[in-house]
Amino acid sequence: MNIAKFKVQPRVVYLLSNQYRSSEQALKELVNNACDADAEHVHITIPMELFSTESIIIQDDGVGMSANQVINDYLNIAYNRRARKGELTPFKKRKVRGHKGIGKFAGLVAASQMEVQTTHNKITSTLVINKDDLYNYDNDLEELNIEVISRASDNPSGTKIILSGLNQTLNLPSIEKLRELLIFEFGRQPDFCIYINEEKVTFEDIQGTKKAFTKRLNETGNITVSLVISDQKKSLKNPGLIIRVGGRVIGEPTFFGLGHESLVPKKFLNRIYGEIEADGLIEAVNSGWDYIYENSKGYAELTSFMKRFLIEELKSKFKDETIELENEILHE
Ligand SMILES: Nc1ncnc2c1ncn2[C@@H]1O[C@H](COP(=O)(O)OP(=O)(O)OP(=O)(O)O)[C@@H](O)[C@H]1O
Ligand SMILES: [Mg+2]
Repeated sequence: MNIAKFKVQPRVVYLLSNQYRSSEQALKELVNNACDADAEHVHITIPMELFSTESIIIQDDGVGMSANQVINDYLNIAYNRRARKGELTPFKKRKVRGHKGIGKFAGLVAASQMEVQTTHNKITSTLVINKDDLYNYDNDLEELNIEVISRASDNPSGTKIILSGLNQTLNLPSIEKLRELLIFEFGRQPDFCIYINEEKVTFEDIQGTKKAFTKRLNETGNITVSLVISDQKKSLKNPGLIIRVGGRVIGEPTFFGLGHESLVPKKFLNRIYGEIEADGLIEAVNSGWDYIYENSKGYAELTSFMKRFLIEELKSKFKDETIELENEILHE
């Protein structure tokens, strides 16, 4: 009998980093990590022009990592954090987003080098992961030496990721796209502010009519709705309401079917931007966390409530623009 062992080529790290649809999605992974680290602030720096030698930097003020945590947790590929440390973060009790143990490599999709500087309990540890080193190394990944240098420091706790040697064949991450993505994902995360090139990301920035309330529905349970109907005629990019269940955004923004009814002009719908928290729908979410079963009673109830609510809001907002919203939708 032969006993075999897996061999892992260092290139796997690059392959893992390469699974994101866009560099904006990849950067979102690093913000997820900051959120899981109980950070309150994340500062993202993105160079303004392509071919610049500047780096992309993601800096958080979370708990940081000790040298041991860098070695045992950070550099441990596919290590399941939730399984070992639970579903909630230690201080802010946020729902932990990370579970695959690979998100940290996301930055390597756009950069050839990733430097990590992390401070925990007045010790700063630094390591560098270089894509070329991974490519050119012929042995097993486990044999590759990565230097982790630790020194005493006065820095506050937190982690800074510096992505350098930006891939010149890719466009820089679009700041607009990234802001939007981050608003969708973290817009209502308490105690969590994100800044891109020093400008805070928030959907409160959108000028318009704002509504925020919590309501109890029979089947759905408590829902928390917050939305803005933009004052600008210009359509918002990716408009609609996102639904968050158990801390996660499920599927794409929706108009609860109003988009399909030609009775509500798209030009009005496209000015709505908001979010609903509906933890009561957890049983109705598929295992891939990307849609809610449409025939669930809770979702049907939420849909009919939101349709009515949105129509009333649009009617009052656009009463001067002769909006004809048929009663049929309201009384169906
Ligand atoms: N910014 C950070 N601050 C503190 N610890 C971090 C940070 N980024 C990563 N870590 C630690 O490194 C671990 C690995 O991160 P990584 O993103 O690869 O995996 P994950 O977050 O556990 O899962 P996923 O792949 O789903 O994101 C995390 O679980 C966390 O313990
Ligand atoms: Mg992660």
